[in-house]
This record gives sequence, structure tokens and C-alpha cells, in this order.
Amino acid sequence: MVSDSFSVRPFQRADAKSALTCGDVSLEALAKKHGTPLYVYSADHILGRFRLFGKSFANQRHVVCYAVKANSALGILKLLAAEGAGFDIVSGGELERVLMADKSAAGRVVFSGVGKTAPEIDLALRSGILLFNVESEGELELLAERSSKLRKRARIALRVNPDVFAETHPYISTGLSEHKFGIAIQRARTVYKHAAAQKFIEPAGVSVHIGSQIQSAEPFGAATSRVVGLIRQLRKDGLPIQYLDAGGGLGIEYHASKPFHPEKKVEQYAAAVEKSIGQLEDITLLLEPGRFLVAQAGALLARVLYIKKNGKKTFVITDAGMNDLIRPSLYQAHHEIVPVAAPKGSRKLTADIVGPVCESGDFFARDRELPMVAPGDLVAILDAGAYGQSLASNYNTRPRPAEVLVQGKKANLIRRRETTSDLFATEML
Ligand code: LLP
Repeated sequence: MVSDSFSVRPFQRADAKSALTCGDVSLEALAKKHGTPLYVYSADHILGRFRLFGKSFANQRHVVCYAVKANSALGILKLLAAEGAGFDIVSGGELERVLMADKSAAGRVVFSGVGKTAPEIDLALRSGILLFNVESEGELELLAERSSKLRKRARIALRVNPDVFAETHPYISTGLSEHKFGIAIQRARTVYKHAAAQKFIEPAGVSVHIGSQIQSAEPFGAATSRVVGLIRQLRKDGLPIQYLDAGGGLGIEYHASKPFHPEKKVEQYAAAVEKSIGQLEDITLLLEPGRFLVAQAGALLARVLYIKKNGKKTFVITDAGMNDLIRPSLYQAHHEIVPVAAPKGSRKLTADIVGPVCESGDFFARDRELPMVAPGDLVAILDAGAYGQSLASNYNTRPRPAEVLVQGKKANLIRRRETTSDLFATEML
């Protein structure tokens, strides 16, 4: 069923008669020990993906700033920090997570997001982050005020909106002028001039992020070209721009039946970005991949509770729901779903794989052909390492899943399962 090479997914069968494992670790054993739903990630896989960037961008000074929103588990942040990663954050909470995982990583943090508040800005100023990606003139004003109040210099990049179309789901496309993100590139020079006049503001970079789950390298090249043009102008205007933040967004392939070569993907991406950078000198490239590093390293394990028929339809009801993994409901996203046990025969069923949440939108797959499963069986929902747990909620008063990080033969619980008393902890009677 899952026949990809190790480099695409860490969840494999030793042979057709074996159960699915994560590297050397039995998923059935993890589910027995920690219960379900359970997120399982491979540390080796995450590190492998991270190192692909180092390899493909070896000729260009760069920092890979992992987009924390993709999966903000402290265990994963710590793993990446130890490898030298920087971090792209979008809230004070994410900054606190990075500091908790590794205080010394503060100098490798870039702060993006359209709605930064004064307390979040203050925390970032005090922590000494690398770069604020400023998304509006109002934010620049607030940052100028806070930085002079705290007497802390703020290195900034304007996040420019390059008006480049990235072919992806409309909810995760960000680089068109109709989107709320960034400052129109045509207006950027004026805003930089204004920024340079502020005592504690230091224009140091230009940033761009055009969207997520982008499959072709071409839009990255186009957006980078526009940014490079702006950097040349700004340098002529006398601003010492040192950083080009090219954002994140590199896509993966969620369909196991379609070919996917992670190594080639990063190489093509690097080639497109570096071609656009061309002869621009003394530039440090910042990259903000999220999904590409962690999505395929993770699976959500769920137990089949019931098989139910309604008229012509069959439903496989699992103990995981849209509150645990919302991507199929929110973006009609495809996730491969595979039984963990060794296939028992060739019988198949076609069913909607759904959760227990009281919404018809609570599904992981519709009309999906699966090897025959029965109540009690364990299934793995693949490619769930990015925007899975980080988008999970307590809807229907469902405690969020536990998380296990597998490294070599070891499997460490990096987040215990929430309890209902955790959920009540903030409420008053
Ligand atoms: N940098 C910025 C400024 C971003 O807004 C994002 C993602 C990233 C980097 C990382 O993008 P990535 O490399 O992961 O594509 N929940 C959606 C994805 C939302 C992406 C939001 N921004 C999903 O599950 O597909």
C-alpha cells in the first residue's frame, strides 16, 4: 500500500505481510501505550528534510527559519534549534515557545503576521529577534513607538505583496493584492524612507511570502525577482539591505500514487530563487519552510470505532475527528489513510472515513477505497505532521491528542494527551 521510498515518508512496511511502522518503532505498540488519537512524528525524517535545504542552498548564505505554525510542539522546535534552525513566528505565543525550546535561538527569529500587538512587539524587542517582517504602515508606526520607548533597535523588513499568483488553495494563497498580507510593492520605497527616518528602526531586509502548498518553483522565482529589484533600488537609496526573506510555501505531494522527489523539489526551488538573486551581493537569504519539513514526518493514528451503513453509503467511524485534523474539512485536502496491521487479504471497501464530531464536515476522506477494516483496527492518516496538531481544537469538548517523537529506536512522548480537567482549568463556576 505505502510503497514510497524512505525519503518521502517514514511510515513503511518491511514487506507486504508486515504492519506499518515508523522506522523501527511499532505503531501498534505506540497506540497501545499512549492511546488514540495519537500523533507520531519521525525526528530523523524532519532532520533529513531540514538538511536538504542546507545542501541545496550551500552556495548562498542563508538561514532556514522553520515556520513554527506548521507544528509548534516544543520537542520539534528543540530538535530543529539544535540543528541550527531559525524560526518564523506569527505571535507572542510562538515566540515564547521558541524561547522555551532554546533561548539562544532568539537571534534567529523572524516575526511575521498582519496583526502584531504592542505586548507581542515588546516581547520580541526585549528578546532581540533577528527581524520584524512589517506588514503595514500602522504596524511600522507602533514598532517605532515601542522601540524608542524600550530603547531597543528593531531590524525590519517590509513584507511586500508582489502581486504574484501562486496556484494553490484560495485560503492559503497570500501574494495577490486582493489578500490582506504585506504592503504593495509599488509603495514600499516610500515606506522604507519613512522607516529609515525613525531613530530605533533599522531597515535591514525585504520579505515576501506568496502562499503555501505551492508545487512549482516558478512563482517563487517571480516573487524573488521582484524583491531583488526592490533591494537594488533601496540600496541605491542608501539603505543597507542585508536580508532577503523569501518566505515559505514549498509544497509536498499528499497523494502516494503520484511521484514526489523531495530532494529534487528543494533543488529546483533553490535554483529558481538563486537565479533570481543573480549577482546581488552581500545578501543573506532567509527561508521559512513549514510544511515541507514536518508534514510527511507525521501521521495521526486513529482507532476504527464502528463501520456503519446508511443506504448505499458506508462510513468508517474513527476516534479521531476534525478537531484533531481539520485539513480535509477546511481545504478538502487529501490525506492517505492506511490500515496499520498487515493487509489480511485483497478485500476492499469504499467508505467515507469520518470522526465522531457532530458536523457533516467531519471527515478525513470521502468515497475512499481502503483495504477491509473492522472495528478495533488502527489506521494511520498520513502526511499529518504539518497543520495537524497546530490547528487542533477542543471542539465537542474533545481533549487534544498526545504526540510522540520517534528518533532511531526511541519513541519519546513529547506531549501528553489532554484531559478533560485540562479543559476545565481556565473556567469558573
Ligand atoms: N511564512 C509565512 C509568513 C507564512 O504565513 C507561512 C504559512 C509560512 C511561512 C509557512 O508556509 P509553508 O512552508 O508551511 O507552506 N493551514 C494551511 C496552511 C497555512 C499556511 C499559513 N502560512 C494548511 O494546512 O494547508
